[in-house]
Amino acid sequence: MANTEVEFCGLNFKNPMVVASIEPTNSPDLIKQCFDAGAGGAIVKTLTDIEDMAQLTQNSKYSVMNAQGNIIHGKPARDFVFYSRSGYASTAYKDWIPYLKECQAYGAERDAHLIGSVGAKEISGWRDISRTIEDCGLPMVELNFGCPHPAMMPGVHGGSMIGQDPDMAAEVTRQVAEVVDIPIVVKLTPDQADPVAIAHAVKGAGAAAVTATNRYTGFAIDIDTATPQIGGPAGIGGTWTKPLSLRWVHRIHQEIGMPVAGSNGIFDHRDAIEFIMAGAGVVQIGSVLMIKGIKWLTKVIEGMERFMDEKGYHDVHAMHGIASSRAAGDYSEQFARGRRYAAIDHGACKNPTCTVCIQMCFYEALSQADGKVDMHPESCIGCELCYDVCPFGAIAMAETTPAQHAAGYYDIPEGIFETDKFTTRRNNPESIDG
Ligand SMILES: Cc1cc2nc3c(=O)[nH]c(=O)nc-3n(C[C@H](O)[C@H](O)[C@H](O)COP(=O)(O)O)c2cc1C
Ligand code: SF4
Ligand code: SF4
Repeated sequence: MANTEVEFCGLNFKNPMVVASIEPTNSPDLIKQCFDAGAGGAIVKTLTDIEDMAQLTQNSKYSVMNAQGNIIHGKPARDFVFYSRSGYASTAYKDWIPYLKECQAYGAERDAHLIGSVGAKEISGWRDISRTIEDCGLPMVELNFGCPHPAMMPGVHGGSMIGQDPDMAAEVTRQVAEVVDIPIVVKLTPDQADPVAIAHAVKGAGAAAVTATNRYTGFAIDIDTATPQIGGPAGIGGTWTKPLSLRWVHRIHQEIGMPVAGSNGIFDHRDAIEFIMAGAGVVQIGSVLMIKGIKWLTKVIEGMERFMDEKGYHDVHAMHGIASSRAAGDYSEQFARGRRYAAIDHGACKNPTCTVCIQMCFYEALSQADGKVDMHPESCIGCELCYDVCPFGAIAMAETTPAQHAAGYYDIPEGIFETDKFTTRRNNPESIDG
């Protein structure tokens, strides 16, 4: 069986599945359930000295929507949208002290780690809570510079407000690094232009890793009642955010090379593996455990083991960053590639019953004539859209030969701009019968 162990910031994890700082880690009993479900680690819900953020959790609003933006009544699908508002740990951080020790010991017996999380009022609070976490024997601390909610609470400064300011993020990190020896992980916000710059800044200030990322801030509306869902703006996430999160995991992994914990968009093991292939050393699983239950985590872990066995990955390291290293660095690589054109297999094509590709080609390269797809290679730019969408595998992308170019197949125009086709270009929907 594949080896799922990973090393992250000098710490060994039995598997890369870490429960994110979220409601399923908001009590000792829940944290124990996460360890029982097989988590490699669990991050306690953000410990705080901000009363308003504790109170906000006691006034939480959660809703799960479908891709249309309607509240789901019943079982959520994998494309769920989790729209919610909650704060930090609802119990004061000092009251957590005996439980942090107890849960850390419980995790250690199961070869797993309890990780701390901090969101404080002032610099002194960031330092005190981080030190408390270390004193309780926790081996790692996450600084929550990603929470969307403080920005919407008058008089509260924290979360994404810090994560949007490289100088402030670096200063808080530096202050915490002065008082703890355990690795510091900074949780980034995606609600900004450049999380990579924040990762740079906090690395320079002593962070060992970053988490990419916390959730976005959104605004969702019920158009039937013309009212905002759950009363107004709130945190928003779900699997739809995954490619957006992966972009930052990939860029931080490639450009900075510091360890990254992947978060924001995991439903099952396939999503977790995407994060790992983008460069995440561990992944954080959050809202899916609120809609499927903590035991869902066991299925995610088993799914990853199965995948690794099936694909012949003997350890997680073999998957780590593998897709990131294969990604195009810049688009000049694309310009340098040989032209391709769409070649139709008329035997496999179901036209005229199917017309999908004709509707989608915006370069006048496909039309319908005599009940079959007519291909106009002089217009085909090789964009691959028809190839992707054909439900019957009837389109192949073929290399354009010099003889075909000479015969008038589409070639890169001589100048930078195209002049001859742009005034007439359209697609060919009128050629479709019926
Ligand atoms: C209801 C809820 C509460 C959360 N509370 C916290 C928190 O206290 N601290 C924190 O760092 N992140 C918090 N998060 C963010 C999650 O840890 C996680 O980063 C985010 O949900 C994205 O991961 P996911 O797609 O697996 O849910 C919360 C998220 C949700 C949905
Ligand atoms: S590859 Fe693009 S341009 Fe060519 S036929 Fe298909 S959709 Fe049209
Ligand atoms: S999408 Fe495929 S099957 Fe449908 S018309 Fe185009 S080539 Fe034929």
